[in-house]
Amino acid sequence: MPVSPENSLPSSSHGGLRLAGVTLRRGITTVFEDLNLDLNTRRIGLIGDNGAGKTSLFRLLCGLDLPQAGSVSIAGHALHAARAQHPGLVGLMFQNPDDQIIFPTVEEELALGLRPAGLSRQQAREQARALLARRGLAHWAERAVASLSQGQRQQVCWLSLLIAAPRVLLLDEPFASLDLPGQARLAQDIAQAPQQVLVSTHVLDHVRGFERVIWLESGKVRQDGPGARVCTAYEADVALRLASMPQLEHLHG
Ligand SMILES: Nc1ncnc2c1ncn2[C@@H]1O[C@H](COP(=O)(O)OP(=O)(O)O)[C@@H](O)[C@H]1O
Ligand SMILES: [Mg+2]
Repeated sequence: MPVSPENSLPSSSHGGLRLAGVTLRRGITTVFEDLNLDLNTRRIGLIGDNGAGKTSLFRLLCGLDLPQAGSVSIAGHALHAARAQHPGLVGLMFQNPDDQIIFPTVEEELALGLRPAGLSRQQAREQARALLARRGLAHWAERAVASLSQGQRQQVCWLSLLIAAPRVLLLDEPFASLDLPGQARLAQDIAQAPQQVLVSTHVLDHVRGFERVIWLESGKVRQDGPGARVCTAYEADVALRLASMPQLEHLHG
């Protein structure tokens, strides 16, 4: 997959994404307080309970949200400004496909990601069709996105990101609605992607082999290290919490 020159930034001593002293409030909730993270590793998994802050972290990393305090940067440049100049820098696959998809048909949605690379509307549509054909999905080109299942819409979101080829891929629970072949295919795509990839998931087997997994708990880093170790620690913690919960028969008296 080519990474276009539009995605390149002037190099600096620090190549990756960095959060420094970040405080983020969403509504009345303080999600992060003084969060510091250097995200240089090529594959990073993000795990943790619902509400831990995975989506909020991705929203910061792609510039959708700005922190109330602290900074988010890429290669030493403030992310917000860098992204305005280089729109293909960081791409997010949304947890909910309906938050991502804009256009009525699959082909138009995929073509959207190619327009920043300077292609005409016609060229972008042709490339979108070519990608669908390579995936055995040529018949999806003119399908109304609304007529696809949740899992199929999730596939469209992934293909949009794949074709847009940003320098950093942020995938927010991308396996959640996919069937088993879809999950296997996505795992293969992730393994082959030349870019840096950050993946949040509850399907721990998809990140267990990663060199780095971050376990978020209530907006704080609970553990950060090799995937196998961090996933095992999270599973043990979940088992412990489950063991201390009242069982259903007790609740029903
Ligand atoms: N749109 C929102 N407005 C206000 N608070 C939100 C919003 N989205 C999420 N939150 C809160 O932010 C915290 C982190 O949520 P989120 O980042 O979505 O967690 P995760 O993706 O790990 O499930 C939670 O306490 C959640 O209730
Ligand atoms: Mg989430």
